[in-house]
Amino acid sequence: MAQGDSSGYRKKQISMRNIPQLEDVNTVKLSFNRHLHQTLVKDRHVATKHDFYMATAHTVRDKLVGNWIRTQQHYYKEDPKRCYYISMEYYMGRSLTNAMVNLGVDSEMEEALYELGLNLEELQDQEEDAGLGNGGLGRLAACFVDSMATLALPAYGYGLRYEYGIFTQAIRDGYQHELPDDWLRFGNCWELPRPEFTIPVHFYGSAELDGWQNTQVVLAMAYDYPIPGYRNTTVNTLRLWSAKSPNNFELGYFNHGDYIKAVLDRNLAENITRVLYPNDNMMEGKELRLKQEYFLCSATLQDIVRRYKTFKSREGGPSRTTFDQFPEKAAIQLNDTHHALAIPELMHILMDLEKVGWEEAWDVCTKTFAYTNHTLLPEALERWPVTMLQKILPRHLQIIYEINARHLKAVTARWPDDLDRVRRMSLVEEEPEKRINMAHLAIVGSHAINGVAAIHSGILTRSVFKDFFEYCPEKFQNKTNGITPRRWLRLCNPGLSDTISDEIGEGWVIDLMKLKDLLPLATKSSFLRSVLKVKKDNKLKLKEYLYENTGVTVNVDSMFDVHVKRIHEYKRQLLNVLHMITLYNRIKANPGVPMVPRTIIVGGKAAPGYYTAKNIIKLINSVAEVVNNDKDVGDCLKIIFLENYRVSLAEKVIPATDLSEQISTAGTEASGTGNMKFQANGALTIGTLDGANVEMKEEMGAENIFIFGMTVDEVEKLRSDGYVPRKYYEANAELKKAIDQIHDGFFSPNEPSLFHDLTNHLLNHDTYCLLADYEAYIQCQERVSEAYKDQTKWLTMVVRNIATVGKFSSDRTIQQYATEIWGATPCPPPKETKTDAKMAPVKTAPVKAAITKPLAKSVSKQKAKA
Ligand code: IMP
Repeated sequence: MAQGDSSGYRKKQISMRNIPQLEDVNTVKLSFNRHLHQTLVKDRHVATKHDFYMATAHTVRDKLVGNWIRTQQHYYKEDPKRCYYISMEYYMGRSLTNAMVNLGVDSEMEEALYELGLNLEELQDQEEDAGLGNGGLGRLAACFVDSMATLALPAYGYGLRYEYGIFTQAIRDGYQHELPDDWLRFGNCWELPRPEFTIPVHFYGSAELDGWQNTQVVLAMAYDYPIPGYRNTTVNTLRLWSAKSPNNFELGYFNHGDYIKAVLDRNLAENITRVLYPNDNMMEGKELRLKQEYFLCSATLQDIVRRYKTFKSREGGPSRTTFDQFPEKAAIQLNDTHHALAIPELMHILMDLEKVGWEEAWDVCTKTFAYTNHTLLPEALERWPVTMLQKILPRHLQIIYEINARHLKAVTARWPDDLDRVRRMSLVEEEPEKRINMAHLAIVGSHAINGVAAIHSGILTRSVFKDFFEYCPEKFQNKTNGITPRRWLRLCNPGLSDTISDEIGEGWVIDLMKLKDLLPLATKSSFLRSVLKVKKDNKLKLKEYLYENTGVTVNVDSMFDVHVKRIHEYKRQLLNVLHMITLYNRIKANPGVPMVPRTIIVGGKAAPGYYTAKNIIKLINSVAEVVNNDKDVGDCLKIIFLENYRVSLAEKVIPATDLSEQISTAGTEASGTGNMKFQANGALTIGTLDGANVEMKEEMGAENIFIFGMTVDEVEKLRSDGYVPRKYYEANAELKKAIDQIHDGFFSPNEPSLFHDLTNHLLNHDTYCLLADYEAYIQCQERVSEAYKDQTKWLTMVVRNIATVGKFSSDRTIQQYATEIWGATPCPPPKETKTDAKMAPVKTAPVKAAITKPLAKSVSKQKAKA
């Protein structure tokens, strides 16, 4: 085994906090060795780093299972109202460190591995990210399951187990290439397959009077993931479904003797969970996507109904046969309209299978479901063609039509003379083709609808859902997003965590508002020095990573100016590029004039079919190529495009950032959560009044954030007055020069017309108003540089940022969902007792008797015969 080095991380962890007990360390070592030999069947001569990671992960997993089983049993015993979170995406990242932190065993694990000659940080890097998400929506779901477990809520996450998660991004010659994310290749010890537990999901067939006939079945097989709460006894379940072909699938081929074709065609059914659609904020109207959405809804709803019906019988009482109590026992949150089909699916289950009447079934649905809207972008709003639904889900289409008929009857009764309103509020759109508006279905079938930041929820009720807000205002709410303080501070930034805990204790990890206690320290120079030292250490670590991965050497005394998120026009990475070019031109015009040096880092994936976003990546790399190789520029400016940005890379980049770029056009970013992660890690924000930036500003005070640009109202006015981007181009010499350089091939001399599509669009359309905000952005960046020159002032702002991030804990968000939407309360399982620990996991006596008696008889008979 390689001798592990004693990194700064390790020294800090072990010297300052949680000194591990020798006894615990020895137990860990024994367990590690047992897993290496017994589970992985490896010895020290052949074991790879990945084997060491696996042995470590199994050792940690062992510590979870007791509480996992106990938690699930406790829910059966107590029968609380359960919270179900349904999401097409869970962007979980890595599990090992998260489990160690939440269990509180990180110090002993690290010490034990060190004694075994291993380095924990290196082993952690062996774990593949669980990249089952695109960006904000999927990562939010991952933060939420962590918070639900930490708050001891009886909660479940439901999703899909994609065989291929978000693609791996490779940059070649400045262009993005997509590689498959074969994340399960080396096995995954965090999932528990349940092959004995499969649920049939039906497709196609025909809608008959008594339900749905002649369907084709695909099986949903459960894989369970443990979700441990932070230092408590709760371990909840994230259940991800995988598509399996039933044995009688394509029976026709088998019957006709084409055995090979029949076996090959089983793949068609199993393709449903093969791959995550890599689109962020963009609907892809493919049949396979519709099948994925329905597959998740159907398997999940069947599972929830099963649990509702059967729990009592297992505890000795009768099973539930009526559904009047269903809304008291289940709250179902739909993470966007991707799961709006859960509404007709529950209607189908209740009416066709459980023989409940329409009125009662509808009452159950509307009391059970709640819907979160995540975006205002029109291209993201889901509308499924009626022809597609008719083919794949005929019974559900029939139910949707009936829901619509009753809904429109009620709307007409309220506004008898307003036919246009009735048309606007219909679930069925007629133009340009007949489609079902899934947001309208979700609103009608839910008792609560929420946006994800105050400004976003306001826009929803004022514009997109205005008619519905006037119809049922009581349904509309706001739930500002949050992030989990465990992963996004405690885990990713141990240096800052310890510095904070040394001053105010560790309570902030589960009560982030406690960070307010740091406010008086914002002017204490010794504390500012500690914060500065942590930032410098984090920057040094990132510098190493950047050198190894890009070959570029960066200056750690420069300002790390970071823009990481999905590449999308509305997020305005192109505005950042205009700033880079402006800085470059200023250096070239006055070489040697002192300036605040910057390292500008941009990272993010573009959807594979999103031409403009991919062009923007190429442009950033082209500008970087020129700037980084210009001797006049030297250390003053470096530009880096960070390849394959993902959760585990975010954990490295965010703690090392000085300036966080959150510069979307006002009114386009629903909330953003990256903005909150940077704030928690002591980066200052340059941003527009968009999404949760607005609330961040309120929390920290305008003097601690760099806000620029148009407000939502100003953007609206500009557009309605007729926006002419070329006017701004003509009026500002620096802007004109930057755009001309891009257009004329200054950054692409071998292909001068390479970026014409980008510049033409900017000059003639500029959908997201970059040119209108350019001047304000540049001036704001100048204010940032001025502030950075005064490090004491900067650090004071940094501390005030950290101290006021409390509101943006996902614990607060989930607490609000639980009380204001779900009506759910915590249900913490009791601590393990000594009797529990000794207890055999299965009551063997009666089972043994049943099986062994006849067996024993037959064995003795055989013996007698012999
Ligand atoms: P599910 O909630 O039915 O999916 O079961 C999840 C877990 O809950 C099982 O693996 C058991 O650990 C536990 N469980 C299931 N049924 C019962 C029961 O009737 N009593 C106590 N625990 C149960």
